[in-house]
Amino acid sequence: MMDWTTSACRVFHRRASRHARLYTEMINAGAIVHGDAERHLRFEPCEHPLALQLGGSEPQLLAQAAAISAGFGYDEINLNCGCPSDRVQEGRFGACLMLEPQRVADGVQAMREVCTIPVTVKCRIGVDDSEDYAFLQRFVGIVSAAGAKTFIVHARKAWLSGLSPKQNREVPPLSYPTVARLKQDFPQLNIVLNGGLATLDACEAQLQQLDGVMLGRAAYEDPYLLTAVDAQLFGDSTPRLSRAEWLHRLRPYIERELAAGTPLARITRHMLGLYRGEAGGRAFRRVLSEQAPRAGAGWPVIEAALAATQSHQRAAAA
Ligand SMILES: Cc1cc2nc3c(=O)[nH]c(=O)nc-3n(C[C@H](O)[C@H](O)[C@H](O)COP(=O)(O)O)c2cc1C
Repeated sequence: MMDWTTSACRVFHRRASRHARLYTEMINAGAIVHGDAERHLRFEPCEHPLALQLGGSEPQLLAQAAAISAGFGYDEINLNCGCPSDRVQEGRFGACLMLEPQRVADGVQAMREVCTIPVTVKCRIGVDDSEDYAFLQRFVGIVSAAGAKTFIVHARKAWLSGLSPKQNREVPPLSYPTVARLKQDFPQLNIVLNGGLATLDACEAQLQQLDGVMLGRAAYEDPYLLTAVDAQLFGDSTPRLSRAEWLHRLRPYIERELAAGTPLARITRHMLGLYRGEAGGRAFRRVLSEQAPRAGAGWPVIEAALAATQSHQRAAAA
């Protein structure tokens, strides 16, 4: 998720779940090939299993970007066919690629020829007036014939004009049955559901019929949810972390990043929702928001946020 699932965010999330697969922000293939690949692609070893999401539409450029990226050790390359933003449409990639399945298939094939990791696709259930299921079925048929075996399907259409990207995540209606039907028609493919999943119970229910689930906003906005993923979805009985413990486990990483010159706020902005819905949650958020951007801010700011939260919790319990 652009600006959200940065490396710092992924390191934070990984401490909560060993098994969940994490995805980068969409990175433009051209930026990798012609720009500073190291800056765009660098990640921490703890982030595995980690998928890189590419944006692009030129098969040869995608292949060059995939070859460079595979060298960095990603576990998967995912092609974005779901983003509806105007900027992305100008580059003829993102969701509008669903209108050109053969181009997507060529891109998938070109990437598969240069790397051994899986090449997957993230798409919508349709675009604009392509209301009928046959459009999606044809898209998946053509692209899977080129070797994509996993499709992450955001279960709503993208409307390519008239809606902002945010509205495009909210206004077009969700249709989970469409994704379930896709799985029935392509039982050999991994079909992963995305869109509107807010609880792990909802995920568990979908996993009865589908191969995977992808959480976007819920995981980011209420990250403590992730600490239950391993037990509930992967059957791993490692005890669930407390929020404070989670932060303390990040201390070595945070101090290393601070020493390398990363501003504290660039790390803590992903943590603001940690106490969402809990007593003291607003105090936690306020201390981090106010103090982390200050010059020289370091680990003591996190200790202060924890202390403020705990004092609210004690007052609430008294
Ligand atoms: C801030 C933000 C940035 C996003 N950036 C991307 C992106 O780079 N690539 C992508 O495939 N989807 C992106 N998305 C869409 C999400 O991956 C997801 O498909 C969508 O939010 C629906 O899932 P959810 O209801 O679980 O959030 C973004 C969403 C948000 C809120």
